Amino acid sequence: MLMTALAALMVLPAVAQETKSPSFDEVLTSRRSIRKYDATKKISEAEVRRLMEAVQEAPSWANQQPSKYYVAMSPEKLAAVKELIGGNKRNVQDAPVLIISTFERGKSGFFRGNPANEVGDGWGAYDNGLSNCYLILQARAMGFDTLIMGMRESDKLRALFNIPDSETVMAVISLGYRAAEPVQPRHRQLDDVVKFY
Ligand SMILES: Cc1cc2nc3c(=O)[nH]c(=O)nc-3n(C[C@H](O)[C@H](O)[C@H](O)COP(=O)(O)O)c2cc1C
Repeated sequence: MLMTALAALMVLPAVAQETKSPSFDEVLTSRRSIRKYDATKKISEAEVRRLMEAVQEAPSWANQQPSKYYVAMSPEKLAAVKELIGGNKRNVQDAPVLIISTFERGKSGFFRGNPANEVGDGWGAYDNGLSNCYLILQARAMGFDTLIMGMRESDKLRALFNIPDSETVMAVISLGYRAAEPVQPRHRQLDDVVKFY
């Protein structure tokens, strides 16, 4: 008993080091759109559930939480989704998980059934983007990589996952482990996009 406890103590530091979370800065700077995945590394449903729990923390209009997710992990569903993302197929060929994000219309941006302002259901898309941002950052914090894909066939995805007409299909997001280091994209100058008054 004592020996077991001592042995457990001795391996603890190594385990703790392995599971050390990256800093928020590291998450932000190391996240990139990944277009080549390691086919040998899998992701479990339990890990995807942990990821999606973080997504549940995202803010939304009046806490309407309009975002919904359809997770493809089986070989059949993965193969089917890959046929519906055009040229993205070759980039996410080896990703073990593909996630379809949607939002329920008529919730965010609405008050008693009427649009609260000129943006209307645009607020649902906004909230979905916020949720997806949580998704890609938490994925990186967990050591995973992602690619958001706007190029997808929404009608066929709707049929494949029985997505109701009340939802708008937004992005397909791949989840996996990077197989190659990505190219650093160029960013606009801060003064081009931020104005101080
Ligand atoms: C809404 C949205 C749609 C995107 N659609 C695609 C896509 O269909 N295919 C693709 O390869 N990249 C897609 N991207 C990834 C962008 O090209 C990428 O985020 C951008 O070039 C910046 O690179 P980074 O993510 O590595 O910082 C999309 C990104 C967003 C946010």
